[in-house]
Amino acid sequence: MQYPIPLNATRTQIRQLIRQRRGALSATEQQQAGLALLENIKQLTHIDNANTIAIYLSNDGEVDTQPTIEWLWQQGKQVVLPVLHPFSSGHLLFLHYTPHSPVYENKYGIIEPVLDQTQVCPIKNIDLIFTPLVAFDHHGQRLGMGGGYYDRTLKSWFENGKGAMPIGLAHDCQQVEQLPYEPWDIPLPIFVTPSRIWHWEKHDKSL
Ligand SMILES: Nc1ncnc2c1ncn2[C@@H]1O[C@H](COP(=O)(O)OP(=O)(O)OP(=O)(O)O)[C@@H](O)[C@H]1O
Ligand SMILES: [Mg+2]
Repeated sequence: MQYPIPLNATRTQIRQLIRQRRGALSATEQQQAGLALLENIKQLTHIDNANTIAIYLSNDGEVDTQPTIEWLWQQGKQVVLPVLHPFSSGHLLFLHYTPHSPVYENKYGIIEPVLDQTQVCPIKNIDLIFTPLVAFDHHGQRLGMGGGYYDRTLKSWFENGKGAMPIGLAHDCQQVEQLPYEPWDIPLPIFVTPSRIWHWEKHDKSL
């Protein structure tokens, strides 16, 4: 049985509780979750019209994206992964990712492609961004690891509809009733978990 997260929990406390919760999943549960996630991702019509899709390599108990990445390759999609921007602190760059791309462990212990200028994909060329998160709520709000990387990346899409649409990926146990949020937090229109797809047509920052 999962205890609800207290409504007055701070962002730091929520991050800690949810990371513990998803970290407690067994290897078998993790494997099944990654496969179930892919089955729901296959139902997204957005994929049909997308050529270039950003995703990430799972870390820290995140739902396994490897089956999805392999399926995207099979579909002939261009897969790109985020890397920490070498000069612009707090920002991401996206690099093309193939089964042969060299990778290394970044300062957060996250595996990312080795920076290679010839592999950089401008954000305007990305059609969809599968977005990692620690927690999401019943209003489409998202809480990340605390770096603000995705809030910065998605700002232009949220404010003027320009750029790639984000789709959050998570385990079901990462959903909470209501997240505390800040003015810079970008809510997401769609989240996919192993059990279902969650849609929010419109976001109201006053929720
Ligand atoms: N668009 C932005 N411009 C400048 N600073 C920002 C922007 N978005 C977020 N930040 C800063 O980033 C910091 C971390 O933000 P936050 O706690 O929301 O991260 P997060 O959403 O958990 O992380 P991430 O987006 O990397 O998953 C905050 O101090 C915030 O001021
Ligand atoms: Mg945020």
